[in-house]
Amino acid sequence: MPKQRLEGKVALITGAASGIGEETVKLFAENGAFVVAADLQDELGRQVAASIGSDRVTYHHCDVRDENQVEETIKFVLEKHGHIDILFSNAGIIGSLSGILELDLNEFENTMATNVRGAAATIKHAARAMVDKRIRGSIICTTSVAASIGGTGPHGYTTSKHALLGLVRSACSELGAYGIRVNSISPFGVATPLACRAFNLEPNEVEANSCSQANLKGIVLKARHIAEAALYLASDEAIYISGHNLVVDGGFSVLKLVTRGMVFIYLFIDLIILLNLTG
Ligand SMILES: NC(=O)c1ccc[n+]([C@@H]2O[C@H](COP(=O)([O-])OP(=O)(O)OC[C@H]3O[C@@H](n4cnc5c(N)ncnc54)[C@H](O)[C@@H]3O)[C@@H](O)[C@H]2O)c1
Repeated sequence: MPKQRLEGKVALITGAASGIGEETVKLFAENGAFVVAADLQDELGRQVAASIGSDRVTYHHCDVRDENQVEETIKFVLEKHGHIDILFSNAGIIGSLSGILELDLNEFENTMATNVRGAAATIKHAARAMVDKRIRGSIICTTSVAASIGGTGPHGYTTSKHALLGLVRSACSELGAYGIRVNSISPFGVATPLACRAFNLEPNEVEANSCSQANLKGIVLKARHIAEAALYLASDEAIYISGHNLVVDGGFSVLKLVTRGMVFIYLFIDLIILLNLTG
């Protein structure tokens, strides 16, 4: 039997009770990893772990906004498995869809606390454990297409994902000295509870919406596709890849940037023509 891609590796996955995190727990376990699945939805998280088996997956409560809980979760991983090879920092919220004119700053802060502070705390404590045990680990964060372009998500969400991408690059620059790789994955729209709740749509409606806006036609983006990107970055197949933002969007953000760039260029040309005409 060929060696499994994560054979014997120990992984912590946050936001593991649902959506992309849940799929990644399953895929990592199928590929030979021992997984600690962390989330604040305890009942769902326990169900995910039980559906795979307690020999492979253990559920642990963790609110990533609280550094003490994050530190305690890493301790739990170390007590159970002795070390940590992989962190998939995936917990995230989208926040409300309100416009900038009605922005609720408490809600904005909560989005930043979950998506940025939570990831920073998790990277800090996982990286400490990797450095202590001299593990050449892999850290992966879930960003979003909203990490690179505006207008694809609410303001707090877009701000937090841009910041998270900065954190990934910054952590990569320091942790390379210890042989630790730090990367991110930027998904396009996937019909998870996060997306369905935010837009008050059924999964098939979210998928229809994503498909209609997608550049790459003929395939429906699923949480499994994002989990496969995480598996690649976690595995030794990506052994020299660090600081990379793996965009899983079928080319959407590249085209959006080109389109927006073109609009800007046309406006600029119009302005120059106008200035010339007026003298
Ligand atoms: N679904 C999409 O279209 C999409 C697109 C781009 C990026 N993402 C990102 O993917 C990640 C996973 O989201 P998803 O779509 O699978 O949504 P989801 O709601 O299905 O899963 C997110 C999980 O994070 C958990 N969580 C939220 N706050 C937490 C906290 N403070 N501490 C611990 N866990 C917490 C939730 O309980 C939930 O189980 C998020 O970071 C999200 O921003 C999603």
